[in-house]
Order: sequence, then C-alpha cells, then structure tokens
Amino acid sequence: MNIAILSRAQQLYSTQRLLKAGEVQNHDIEIIDPTYCNLTIVNNKAVVQYHDQIIDDLDAIIPRIGASNTYRGASIVRHFEAMGVFSIASSKGIVTSRDKWTCFQILAQKGIAMPKTTLGSSPYLDVFVKDFGDHPIIIKILEGTHGQGVILCENYKNALTTAQTLQSAKVKFVMQEFIAEAQGTDIRAFVIDRQVVAAIKRTSKDGDFRSNLHQGGSANSIQLSNTEKQIAVAAAKALNLSVCGVDMLASKRGPLVLEINSTPGLEGIETATGLNISGKIITFIEQQKK
Ligand SMILES: Nc1ncnc2c1ncn2[C@@H]1O[C@H](COP(=O)(O)OP(=O)(O)O)[C@@H](O)[C@H]1O
Ligand SMILES: [Mg+2]
Repeated sequence: MNIAILSRAQQLYSTQRLLKAGEVQNHDIEIIDPTYCNLTIVNNKAVVQYHDQIIDDLDAIIPRIGASNTYRGASIVRHFEAMGVFSIASSKGIVTSRDKWTCFQILAQKGIAMPKTTLGSSPYLDVFVKDFGDHPIIIKILEGTHGQGVILCENYKNALTTAQTLQSAKVKFVMQEFIAEAQGTDIRAFVIDRQVVAAIKRTSKDGDFRSNLHQGGSANSIQLSNTEKQIAVAAAKALNLSVCGVDMLASKRGPLVLEINSTPGLEGIETATGLNISGKIITFIEQQKK
C-alpha cells in the first residue's frame, strides 16, 4: 500500500517509528510535511499537491497534526477524505478533540463520565465560580496541550481572579472540578479500532498536579479494568477516532474522561509497555483496506 504520514516533525520518535513499522510491513510509506501541501478544488474535485506533484496514489494517511497546526492539518485530512483516502483519524475527530469544551460536549451527548465542567466566558463568572464551592478548581484554556494552559486554583478567590484575567485577555477557558484523589496521576488508554491495545499510568514529577510526560511525569504499564476499557472505547467512538489516546482520571466515582488525543505520542507508551503500537497501527490500516 501507499501510505503517507502527515507530519512536520520528521525526526520525532512517533513519526520515525511509524515510518519503520510501515517499511517492515512492506508498504511504500513516506512522510509528507503539511507545510508543503497545496489544497485546491478543481472541476468540483479535491486536489492535493505536494511541492510540485499532484498526489493521487495514496491508500491511507496517518495524520500527526501538531496543536499549532490544527486548522490546516485537519483541512488537508478532509481533502484526502474527499479523495477516498483512508485516514486513521477523521478530520472531524481531529478538530473536535482539539477544543476541550467541544470535546466535553460530545462526550456529554453520549453520557460519558467526566469531571464537572463549566465554559468560562460568561458575564456571571463569579456565580459560576462560586458554584464549585470554596474548593480547589482547575482552569484550562481550550486549546492547551502538554500540560501548558492548565492552572490549579486553590480557592474561590484565586479561581475568580484567574478566570477574570483570562476573560479580560479574551482567552477561552473552562473551569473544572479538581479531582484531588487522582493525586497527580492519570491513565492513558491507547485505542485502536475500538479496543484498548495498551495503557499507562502517568505520575507527575515533584508533587505537580499535572501528570503530562512533557512536564517530567513518568509512565508505567497498567492493566485497565473492564469499566475503564469500556469508557475509553466509548470516548474514542464518540469522537469518531479509530486511533487515539484517551486520558482518564481515577476518581471516587469511577473513571472520568479528561481528554482525547488524535495524535497520541508513541514514545511514552511503547517504552513503558514494550509493545509495538506503531506496528499495530499499520496492521489496522491493512485491515481497513482489505
Ligand atoms: N480536573 C482535574 N483534576 C485533577 N487533575 C487534573 C484535572 N484536569 C487536569 N488534571 C491534570 O493535569 C494534566 C493536564 O490536563 P489536560 O486536561 O490533560 O491538559 P493538556 O491537554 O495540557 O494535557 C492531566 O493529565 C492531569 O494530570
Ligand atoms: Mg492531557
């Protein structure tokens, strides 16, 4: 098969691993830098040009779209979808998972468990902040990633001033119940084709409440309960993502979904579990094309 990895970061672990996995499984696989993709609609048909060549021979794409490139990246994926090229992440799934509030709304439509969350922008900010009680709350900007853009506010006053500051700077954000019992850990379930193929528990560094590996967190392989697996698969399905990372917090009332990543990193999970997730992604593409 002809497979392209859409990635601006050619040297990244995940991109390189997918490239190797495709080669090992005997495919023609290449990296396409979205920066050099030109999108046109000619005679009512979607056309993708890469540098000076028209691309019309692809069977499948593996989008690895960075957070700073969501609009353009998803637009390229949508063009390939229009051409009938299989994508392991739908353009819709990429766009909706990137905006935290939109993602929560879709999860809510399906009744999937998540922490209590309120959209920030409102003239009655004080009322909505007060509604969380005088407890620590989490404030997150909508398109934050890697733990940047998540703030733990210790009390009502602190939360209100933070929320007001973001609002006056016209930054979109959500306020969220702080799940203290997670104790700076979260669960990443890696879902391929409606199955959890690997899972890790991430633990924060030095008492940070954020467990992101980009913030120095560490990862351990874990076995998920059936409930955790079911929730992860339901979340992936709700977002229309056949390959994704579903992040959950273990709370007193069971697993709560935190976010869904349409371009999940492979390094942390492959290293911690010893599993060849890249190979599983290529195998999934093969099955889809049969
Ligand atoms: N409501 C919450 N309660 C407790 N910890 C949280 C909460 N929300 C986020 N965290 C911690 O902060 C980390 C980053 O938050 P997340 O929403 O995943 O943003 P990002 O997209 O930046 O990774 C999570 O992995 C988790 O460890
Ligand atoms: Mg996260």
